[in-house]
Amino acid sequence: MNSKKEHMLEALELAKRGSLTTSPNPMVGCVITHNNEVIGRGWHERSGENHAEINAIEDVLSNLGNKSKEALKESELFVNLEPCTTFGKTPPCADSISEYGIRKVYFGNEDKAQQGFSKLLPGIEVESGLLEEEGRKLNKGFFSRIEKGRPYISCKVASALDGGIALPSGESKWITSSDSRKDVHKIRAYSDAILTGTGTIQKDNPQLTSRDSGLDEGSYKQPLRVVVDRNNVLTGKENIFSSGTQTILFINQESQLKDKENVEIAKLNATPNLPLEEVVRYLAEEKLINNLMVEAGSGLINSLLLERLVDELILYRGPKLLGENRQSFVNLDVAAEKLGTIDLEIEDIEEIGEDIKYSLLPKY
Ligand SMILES: NC(=O)c1ccc[n+]([C@@H]2O[C@H](COP(=O)([O-])OP(=O)(O)OC[C@H]3O[C@@H](n4cnc5c(N)ncnc54)[C@H](OP(=O)(O)O)[C@@H]3O)[C@@H](O)[C@H]2O)c1
Repeated sequence: MNSKKEHMLEALELAKRGSLTTSPNPMVGCVITHNNEVIGRGWHERSGENHAEINAIEDVLSNLGNKSKEALKESELFVNLEPCTTFGKTPPCADSISEYGIRKVYFGNEDKAQQGFSKLLPGIEVESGLLEEEGRKLNKGFFSRIEKGRPYISCKVASALDGGIALPSGESKWITSSDSRKDVHKIRAYSDAILTGTGTIQKDNPQLTSRDSGLDEGSYKQPLRVVVDRNNVLTGKENIFSSGTQTILFINQESQLKDKENVEIAKLNATPNLPLEEVVRYLAEEKLINNLMVEAGSGLINSLLLERLVDELILYRGPKLLGENRQSFVNLDVAAEKLGTIDLEIEDIEEIGEDIKYSLLPKY
């Protein structure tokens, strides 16, 4: 690997330090070099605070003291996202980069929300597209919200080897091992919101909070809990309404839960079916949700697949057979309807405890 790539790789690693805190902002890391030696590092920690480039410049100022201004004039800056050119909660990074006379800027991904860094500062040499794919993968939620107007949507499914996701009684706990359940709690912590359906609430009564992830609970915000309840069946007594965390309900009619603490009734243009496309668009536009995790039964997953709203299936398969009368994930009726067969690209396979975890990307 050449040194440019190594520096950008370090910027991407620094960016990941913000993975539990930056949302709705993207994860951004920055490295500044002089004669190919790293002289400053920075990353963005949370919305409203310094961007990665400013933290890296400040790191140079503190590392090199009165030699820093000279060094910065001959330096190169590596950042995974195009530097900002407009005022947000903080001033544009482009101004500081120009003020310190940084010679060359390498960035990985374009930011469509900006006005074109290279066009604005023709005096600075710019190279874009370095480790672009890795950068897009890291910030897939942010790019989905900005470019598609909806979050990146991951559906978690825990299934037995015969495709069963629940017993005939509807019970679905303990299909997979405690290691897999811990992994699910970790994904919840990295998600901005979790969407479920009334079938799951009535059968499993989940809290949908992140509790047993092994992460320090003070280091992340609990995800927003989201339920689609077209027929107004929830009573307010279910665990999804447990205190401390907000729940947002998509509902068609006047709700008896409208004054309940920590519950928000989403206001969609009333249509009888509450189209899921509108639900996820609302979450992006009104709640700035980048990463949405779905934990539901085949009812909701089926509808999301039909609308091509699943970006990733996270499938945990446990060594169990649930038998003939199981509720089956594979009973989806997508094939019979408008999609035909759905091919899945295997992005990753991992052994977790006694289960196998697949990350699968539908190719619609
Ligand atoms: N193994 C696992 O990973 C796992 C995970 C979760 C759940 N489960 C199991 O799955 C079972 C529940 O599955 P389920 O299929 O009955 O329920 P579900 O998927 O939890 O709920 C179906 C939900 O989808 C909504 N919905 C479906 N199509 C829609 C559309 N086109 N537009 C808007 N909303 C739509 C329904 O709304 P309405 O209510 O308004 O119709 C309902 O809220 C339970 O037995 C549970 O144990 C297993």
